[in-house]
Amino acid sequence: MKINPVVCALAAGIAMPVLGQSAEQLWARNCIQCHAEDGRGGGAGTRTLLTRELMDQALDRQFFDKIKNGVPDMGMVAFKETLKDEQIWALVVHIRELQAAADRKANGSPKAVNGVYTSKYHTFKLETVIDKGLRTPWSAEWIPGENGGLVVTNRGGPVMLWRKGTLTTIEGIPESAEVGQGGMMDVAAHPDYAKNGWLYLAFADPHPTQRNRGTMTRVVRGKLKFEGDKVSFTDMQNIFSAKPEHYLATGLHFGVKLAFDPKDSSILFFGIGERGRMEMAQDLTRPNGKIHRVKDDGTVPADNPFVGVKDAYPTIWSYGHRNPQGLAFDANGDLFDTEHGPRGGDEFNLILKGRNYGWPVVSFGINYNDAPFRTPWPDTAGRKEAPHTGEAPQDAITMPVYRWLPSIGACGMGLAKGDAFPQWSGDLFAGGLSGSNIDRLRVRDGVLVEREEILHRIGRVRDVRTGPDGRIYIVLNDPDRVVAITPADSPATKK
Ligand code: HEC
Repeated sequence: MKINPVVCALAAGIAMPVLGQSAEQLWARNCIQCHAEDGRGGGAGTRTLLTRELMDQALDRQFFDKIKNGVPDMGMVAFKETLKDEQIWALVVHIRELQAAADRKANGSPKAVNGVYTSKYHTFKLETVIDKGLRTPWSAEWIPGENGGLVVTNRGGPVMLWRKGTLTTIEGIPESAEVGQGGMMDVAAHPDYAKNGWLYLAFADPHPTQRNRGTMTRVVRGKLKFEGDKVSFTDMQNIFSAKPEHYLATGLHFGVKLAFDPKDSSILFFGIGERGRMEMAQDLTRPNGKIHRVKDDGTVPADNPFVGVKDAYPTIWSYGHRNPQGLAFDANGDLFDTEHGPRGGDEFNLILKGRNYGWPVVSFGINYNDAPFRTPWPDTAGRKEAPHTGEAPQDAITMPVYRWLPSIGACGMGLAKGDAFPQWSGDLFAGGLSGSNIDRLRVRDGVLVEREEILHRIGRVRDVRTGPDGRIYIVLNDPDRVVAITPADSPATKK
């Protein structure tokens, strides 16, 4: 099943306060006489809002403050008496949507000329790797060795190994439950796989005793056994499972990506979405809405931040997450997630120990039905904002490094490395489901210094992984396939 905005809106609408007027109505009633319906301005001396400079996310707060307090010397009234803070923020979101639509119309999408895409640093082609046999693929991981290849998960359950041009369904894979957005999800090889052979799987686990008690994200590991053409998953061990009373019946927001710490190969991170129960993201006694940290054998590292806190899951590393569907370390060894937000609230976060990422206290998003929801600003929610370095004050909220407004439907993310694309090495590549795009993100000292849309309209991007050949593999759904970003001058593409 695709992530259905209607289903999400219904699920969200039940819990989220709806203030009656949509962002579009607020804009039409209060703003278009000066700014025009599409934001191009003209009335009362307004400039156009539809320029690249004004799309800069650094202006979010300035826009919010100007709408709230007005621009008295230029004739714009203050709206703080008539509109609530969350309505004012919804108007900023509306302006961001107008800007993105205008920018797309004017500048289009990255396009191939004779099969070759030209980006800032590299030219490349898109090569099809697998185009048959997959059904709603979710994720993929390369495993080394003579039996090595690409392991691909399918949300409906089957995990497959693609090698030497054939796709083999692996036997003995644990049962998962495909409900809504969940099912069989991530796969990761232990960094020392060549020595220890451990392969990790993350999936929606059916309740251990009662089928009608829902599902929860679980992580296991096992080893692949090869006998002739047959491949099986054996020696399975449990790495993480939630308390049975914490399984949930919703079909929303499961996460989940696995990421090993490049500085310590015995440490594994994974994120669990809040499952549509947003208040639980702030509750440390619940596993959902969190990034977790475990040892590679499933034991709890003693230096986890909530070890010893009464009833808290000791595996929790950070909280206040909505749906962390991308999780990857950058070249510096810093951990980042991409988080699928509501309408307009997708986030790219630097993940730090013990931090609160704010959902649902603050959010850049509004409701899927265009109704206001929250503001993104901790101060308007009576909280402090935590800096990205040093200690966080009590109750403080850590803000994203970047936010996508409008949303891309953030999903998988991977690190570019190797020689195939030397100038991309160390950049993160983030994919979008609804955005059907890949963005290249360059981070220096915790700050996003470059963002470039590399691809657009390529299908729903579930996962992005660099292969041993340095090509960047993309797992796509609708249509279901795996493609590779390949250097334009690579011999492999010269046929
Ligand atoms: C009476 C005319 C008028 C109305 C009504 C009006 N504005 Fe403005 N607005 C202006 C003028 C004039 C400026 C300052 C010049 C400019 O930036 O175009 C401005 C500036 C802005 C800016 C700042 C842009 C920047 O560069 O920082 C934003 C954002 C904005 N308006 C949003 C709104 C929204 C949202 C509404 C409706 C709630 C609204 N305005 C209603 C006239 C108006």
